[in-house]
Amino acid sequence: MDKLWAGRFSKETDKTVNAFNSSIAFDCRMYREDIQGSIAHATMLGAVGIIPKEDSEKIITGLESILQDIENGVLEFDPNAEDIHMFIEAELTKRIGEPGKKLHTARSRNDQVATDLRLYLRRETEEIQNLLIQLINTLCEIATQHHDTVMPGYTHLQRAQPITFDSHLLAYVGMFARDIARLRDAKNIMNEGCPLGACALAGTTYPIDRKMTSDLLGFDYTIAYETLDSVSDRDFCIEIAGALAIIMVHLSRLSEEIILWCSWEFKFIELDDAYSTGSSIMPQKKNPDVAELIRGKSGRVFGDLQALLVIMKGLPLAYNKDMQEVQEAVYDAVDTVKLCLEVFAPMLKTMTVNKENMRSAAAKGFINATDCADYLVKKGMAFRDAYRITGEIVALCIERNLDLETLPIIIYKEKCELFDNDIYEAVNLENCVNNRKVNENNEKA
Ligand code: ARG
Repeated sequence: MDKLWAGRFSKETDKTVNAFNSSIAFDCRMYREDIQGSIAHATMLGAVGIIPKEDSEKIITGLESILQDIENGVLEFDPNAEDIHMFIEAELTKRIGEPGKKLHTARSRNDQVATDLRLYLRRETEEIQNLLIQLINTLCEIATQHHDTVMPGYTHLQRAQPITFDSHLLAYVGMFARDIARLRDAKNIMNEGCPLGACALAGTTYPIDRKMTSDLLGFDYTIAYETLDSVSDRDFCIEIAGALAIIMVHLSRLSEEIILWCSWEFKFIELDDAYSTGSSIMPQKKNPDVAELIRGKSGRVFGDLQALLVIMKGLPLAYNKDMQEVQEAVYDAVDTVKLCLEVFAPMLKTMTVNKENMRSAAAKGFINATDCADYLVKKGMAFRDAYRITGEIVALCIERNLDLETLPIIIYKEKCELFDNDIYEAVNLENCVNNRKVNENNEKA
């Protein structure tokens, strides 16, 4: 394919440079947005009279036929094309002749790619938000079955206080809900201004209607950014990658818990066979590879975010070719998060929860010690004294291999007069959990 900019040059581009320079292998995924942007631009050019209306109509019909042919697999991307923008423009001229050559009036690939990338990421972030909603729904469905499933709550990975399994899951619901909000905020900022019309960097001398293209493409047009900023801004990629990195932090943390929970040491859950893998040598093994891969892939998305920051940090205004590299990093982050979310929800949905093991783990480790101290406080003792006495009781239990539920009342009384038979109700695990829930509900009321 002849280069559109060949006129200025007396030599062909070196073959290796051609391949090195080309972005079609990855930016072809923006073909819909590129065509959508070009249709809006051509509509505006025709409406304002910068090009004849008939030409604008021919361009639009031509672009629509290209879109259809790409979607039907009739038209393949030319790997030798410089990028998706050049490919579609050249294909258009091939199809409709002269009018095709007018499409790029009052436009540059710089404002074109900045627009396409925003449109593309707008669509992808919406898809990711939907996947997060599905994950939240799955977590809530499981949570409703475990309102009474007592398990140990941990701090420092040491048994701390009794909780129910639904609280543990709902904590992640909170995280994923914030992730949706973070994507929404990033999308809103990204949607504030449409770059089309900024052209190469300094705007254009044609009497374009920026508001019209902006409206056609669903931008807010609350701010007409300085043209230099419009074409050189990739903050939105960094911001979305930042939100994606935080999603991966959350997925990775839950993956880590799942990995722990299905070990023999915990055995709180068992993953479905369809979501586990075996070992090539150890016949007994059933490995949580999916969760491990998600934990591993978090590193990859953090790397993408890091790459974006470093690519952008030294760039002078306005467009620089370095910015082509931004695309691959942000695409990788988007693809990875989508992949992880798609496999995560069904993995959770199909796992089996071992309530008995959770309950018996909760029975060990004195996770009701705070409640024992609080019992004394409610009988009039200062918390620090109650805390000390309870500590001594725990030490005694460890020595005699007893727990707070089975320690005889005489020994309790030896330690402190305030103890009575109702201590056994106070340290009952189910009561410990329920009494806190009552307080939580009171606070909310
Ligand atoms: N493929 C390029 C990119 O993704 C398009 C913009 C090229 N602009 C230019 N002035 N060479 O960044």
